[in-house]
Amino acid sequence: MSVVNIKIEGISYQVEAGLTILEAAKACGYEIPSLCAFNHGECNQGSCRVCLVEATGARGLVASCVYPVAEGMEIRINTPKAVEARRRSVELLLSNHNQNCQQCDKNGHCELLHVAQLVGAREGAYVGSHSETFIDQLAPGLVRDTSKCILCGRCIARCTNAHGLGILGFENRGFNTIVSPAENRSFANSPCIQCGQCVTVCPTGALMEHSEIDKIDEAFRAGKHVIAQAAPAVRAALGEEFGYPIGTPVTGKMAAALRRLGFERVYDVNFGADLTIMEEGTELLHRLTSNGVLPMITSCSPGWVNYAEFNYSDLLPHLSTCKSPHQMQGAIIKSYWAEEHGIDPKDIFVVSIMPCTAKKYEKEREQEKVNGLPDVDAVLTTRELARLIRRSGMLFRKLPDEDWDQDIMGDYSGAGVIFGVTGGVMEAALRTVYFKLTGKEKQDIVFTEVRGHDAGIREASLDINGTVVNVAIASGMRSAKVLLDEIREGKSKYHFIEIMGCPGGCINGGGQPYVRPVFLPNEDDDILDTYKEKRANALYSEDERQVIRQSHNNPQIISLYEKFLASPNSHMAHELLHTSYAGKEGFPQL
Ligand code: FES
Repeated sequence: MSVVNIKIEGISYQVEAGLTILEAAKACGYEIPSLCAFNHGECNQGSCRVCLVEATGARGLVASCVYPVAEGMEIRINTPKAVEARRRSVELLLSNHNQNCQQCDKNGHCELLHVAQLVGAREGAYVGSHSETFIDQLAPGLVRDTSKCILCGRCIARCTNAHGLGILGFENRGFNTIVSPAENRSFANSPCIQCGQCVTVCPTGALMEHSEIDKIDEAFRAGKHVIAQAAPAVRAALGEEFGYPIGTPVTGKMAAALRRLGFERVYDVNFGADLTIMEEGTELLHRLTSNGVLPMITSCSPGWVNYAEFNYSDLLPHLSTCKSPHQMQGAIIKSYWAEEHGIDPKDIFVVSIMPCTAKKYEKEREQEKVNGLPDVDAVLTTRELARLIRRSGMLFRKLPDEDWDQDIMGDYSGAGVIFGVTGGVMEAALRTVYFKLTGKEKQDIVFTEVRGHDAGIREASLDINGTVVNVAIASGMRSAKVLLDEIREGKSKYHFIEIMGCPGGCINGGGQPYVRPVFLPNEDDDILDTYKEKRANALYSEDERQVIRQSHNNPQIISLYEKFLASPNSHMAHELLHTSYAGKEGFPQL
């Protein structure tokens, strides 16, 4: 590593060459306020001017988030000129910002408010015209409020970096500039996949999930049977909202909280994940043995399904017809569970707690409905659940660890738990496919080749009793595109591909708690590099603790087939648990 000698406030330091002043200052123990900078330059636009400092060799003040250190550089963070300039930058942003902070769901996580306090911004320092603003709330997954946007560009960079999509960009000029899908369209009328990655980096409340808390309040008021089911990745991150270190699983406290919020039953979507493996594993074996369309691609990520429908409609026959785990479980609650309890499915209101904003969109797809009824009635993100818990007055950390409800769908395997991390669906499926092909359980149950926590392609080739199964895993549409183009060109060597919409899988979903170093003083400095791995480990450790680790050994799954569905991929299973896809022509091609 080459180093350079610099001085900050007159004190000498040696720092890595190539760092920005902001990064070098941090390494030396200084936090320079910043807004548009994020994650090692992923989003540095140098646009907000909140990070201004003085540096020798530069003319005037420089944006420390983009200006690199140089040998012999002397940096002054706290000269009157620099302090005043940073304060003015923030005051100017505030002068055109919606200041209804009390009613903003971002309150408590708002970086603009945080830097305003840091720089000592004065109320009403600049008074002038306000840009015309509007709220785009047509999309089920996302809401965009231009009155809160500070034009930092982080969302634009994230959409491009994670997916190569570039759905968001700057539109208009000067004072009328906004961040928007092309042609000032709504998210709902653009090829946005509603994954919510843009929401995870927005420093203010300009991009948020489309909240459904009011809908749930209404269902309780209407006397519905309100049932909650929580996805695996939620337990790996919910604790962060209540001060637990990143990667602390809070399964028991989440079950206790949901029960105290008034849900009539609280279930783990891991049961639905086990059911998905039974259906998807059977579908894969069928395709392998009957010259079916290969490679088969997983279909449990609605962001990915959306992407396929917009951009690869010719490849839709490759997608598994299986619904995602929470949709499957919702369909079972409104059929099998309803029948067992003598309840009319119309009186049941199923709420999924998800790490994902695209699930809000998925539940509304016509192709998911059974007899005109949706499988799931509302979706809360992990962040919304935390808001509900805080509103209730419950002290989350003081809650006991409780079990999920055990009737009919309380059991789950370790395979179900790891669905929440990239590679997890593949590993879970392989455990069952191995058994189906050999009639024996695999002794070494961990498929290390498919494990990981980042975007990027992983692949493995497995010889199961003479049947070679080539598999690949991708998360984030940028990686997925490579595998999809290979299929399109007839060059794919794979039989089975797992694709997740968000980089790293559901643990890094667009509905998960924000990871902002400024609000996480007890986490290590490299938390933006390590949080996905920490959350993934929370799921892998829960898998290890399970007595049953293969979906086909879940006793309540066995009994569901014996009593109700008959067999995987049966007629009844197809009615309830499978879906279809359709290309979305009419939208602009990318
Ligand atoms: Fe440097 Fe915005 S943080 S200009």
